[in-house]
This record gives sequence, structure tokens and C-alpha cells, in this order.
Amino acid sequence: MKETTKILHKGDTPEQYHGAVNPPVVHASLFGFKTYEEFRQAYAAIDQRPLYSRHFNPTVNLLEQKIADLEHTEAGIAFSSGMGAITAPLIALLSQGDHLLVIDSVYGPTRQFCNATLTRMGIEVEYFPAAESTNLTGRLRDNTRMIYLESPGSLTFDLQDLRAVAETARPRSIYTVTDNSWATPLYQKPIDLGIDIVVHSGTKYIAGHSDLTLGLLACSAELFDKIKPTAALLGANLAPDDAYLALRGLRTLPLRMAQHQQSALTIARWLQGRPEVREVLHPGLPDFPGHELAQRQQTGHSSLFAFRLQPGSKKARYAFVDTLELFLIGVSWGGYESLILPMEGAFKNEPAWRTRRNLDNDTFRTSIGLEDPEDLIADLERGLAAWRAEMD
Ligand SMILES: Cc1ncc(COP(=O)(O)O)c(C=O)c1O
Repeated sequence: MKETTKILHKGDTPEQYHGAVNPPVVHASLFGFKTYEEFRQAYAAIDQRPLYSRHFNPTVNLLEQKIADLEHTEAGIAFSSGMGAITAPLIALLSQGDHLLVIDSVYGPTRQFCNATLTRMGIEVEYFPAAESTNLTGRLRDNTRMIYLESPGSLTFDLQDLRAVAETARPRSIYTVTDNSWATPLYQKPIDLGIDIVVHSGTKYIAGHSDLTLGLLACSAELFDKIKPTAALLGANLAPDDAYLALRGLRTLPLRMAQHQQSALTIARWLQGRPEVREVLHPGLPDFPGHELAQRQQTGHSSLFAFRLQPGSKKARYAFVDTLELFLIGVSWGGYESLILPMEGAFKNEPAWRTRRNLDNDTFRTSIGLEDPEDLIADLERGLAAWRAEMD
């Protein structure tokens, strides 16, 4: 069965619910039992059976099954935010004295968590640039326990060679984790490339409508047993109402991603042709440094990318952004609506990294939504005209 068909039906059991095609939202913290033996059995499988919703809820579990299936693995865990999915395996699998390698373009709050919390717990955190992902052996130590990736990254879109990292890590029993929020499970299958654990900010494309925060994790049954007890103790479990919204979002994910991909590439190419634009950072463009790797390890592109205007005045930058009508200014991405984010505040605590990666004030990130791309181009055209007017 094709994935686009499977995503609509896999795991659904309408026959259990009077034929209702959508699953009911099971509003329950607790599930009660009539007999001692039933209770005993459920308690022994607390993470796999309805007993208490911090561990297992049927609506949430349907979503967990679907993400496991989409990521070509055995188990899923849903969280109340992407950060819940990111922090759970770090806390569950790392101990004092361990060495953690992290891609240096990682999402800011993930970096913050590594630097503040993990370091305080006695875990050594070391960052590496994307170019080293093809051969990380020089960075490995006897105590290296995990390699954390995010490919493509969500600010500079750096790609890491997932297969090469997995081939380095697996024989040495080093865990590999990757944030797959950008490509979504439709356009990149990290587990097939040998990665152990996939995490998502499902807040983005999976939920798709900017109306909830959601985290998802997918891994083997063996790793599930190692991570899930800690996840339940941390308590960032997803609520059943939000699981329902995420299940609804999933049903249109293939359609939305196809449109996001096409519109973003159209707009990225258009921006490349504009004299006001110095550079466009989009993994789908042939001159992007990670393009060849993207073609190899992804089957598609999403709609989050960045562009750099020519060096301009503050007035011109403000005029550009404030003239836009369809692009709201916003930090998130992956919803139906187009967004623009000035990079002025990005990686403020890492000035050296900002300079090295040309993250100057003329750089903007955009999330291309589901509006007609012609309307979006017209909006950008007006913005660029306002920018030019301030530069004259
Ligand atoms: C790449 C990436 N990973 C993880 C997260 C965190 O997800 P959430 O905001 O759902 O906690 C984000 C949020 O912007 C992100 O961009």
C-alpha cells in the first residue's frame, strides 16, 4: 500500500466505534477495573495498556502507532511539545561522565538544554560542524554515548550525512538521535539510514495548522523500553484532544507537503532572481552546499528556508517586513500560513557562530504556507519595492 493511502487508514478501527471513521477522543485520566486479575495484568503493562493516561491513552496511542509506522520502526511516544520529545531520550539514555556530540546548527532551545541542564548533570557536550558528519571518528572518545543530529537544520538548513553517522556510531554502541521536523516522516526516513531515534516537533507540519504544540518520538521496541519510563516520569504526555488534532493533521500531510514543497521552491527560485537578494538558503536549490546530500537522503523538501537581502539599512529592513501583508512575523513554522522571521535575534548568545554562518540582520527565514504562490510573490514584490525606496 502506498504511504499516502496508508496515512489515511492505518491503525484506524471504525468497527470498534459504531463505524465512526474518526477515533473517539478518550477523555480519561484513569481506567478502572472490575477484577483484581484484570488490574494486575494492566498494571504489569502500564505503558502498553489503558490504566493511567500519563502512561497510555488510546487516542494518543493511535498517533504513536502511526508515527512509528511512518518512521519505519516499532514504537512511538507522543509528548506535549517537541522539546518533550527531544529532552526525554537525552535524559533517559545519558549519565554523568558521558560524552555527547551535537550538530552545531541545532535548534536553539535544544542547545540551551544541552549547555545548561546536561552540563550541570555532568555530561560533556561537544558541538561539531555539518561538514564533519561524513567522518566523525576524530571526535569520538571512549565515553561518547550519543550523537544528536538535526538534518536539515531549521535556521541555516545544514545537512548531515545520516547514513555515515549511523555507520560510525552503531558498531560502537553509540546512540544516534535526529530531529526530523524539517523533512517530516514523508520526505526522510532516518531509521532506514541506520539512525536509532527520530524526534519531531509535530507542532510544525504534522499538526499543520498552528493550533497545538506536539512532540513525537519513534524508535525500536527495545529503546522504547529504555525511554518511555523516563518520559512518563517527566510528565510531558500529550493530551487526547491534541492527539485527535494531530491525527486529523496527519491525514492531509501528504497533500499539504506537496503544496508546501512546490510553492517554496517556486518562491525560492524567484527570490534568487531578484537583485535585492544576495543569497537563498534552500536545500532544494542546486547551488546550496547540502543539495547533493539532500537529493540522496531525502525524497522531498519542506517549505522552511532563508534568504539574505543585500546589506541594507535598518529602515529598509523594517520597511520590507512591515509592508508584507500575507507574511506574519512569527517564530514557528509548518502551518498553513506564511511567516517571516528576522534573524536579528537568532543565536544571540553565540556571536562567533552567527558571524561564521553569516546570520546577519539582513537575513530572514520564511515558512511558506498554503496561500497561492502568485499572491505570496506579489506580496514579497511589494516588500522589496519598499526596501528599495528606503535604500534610494
Ligand atoms: C527544529 C526544531 N526542533 C524542535 C523544536 C521544538 O518544538 P516545540 O516548539 O514543539 O517544543 C522546534 C521549534 O521551533 C524546531 O524548530
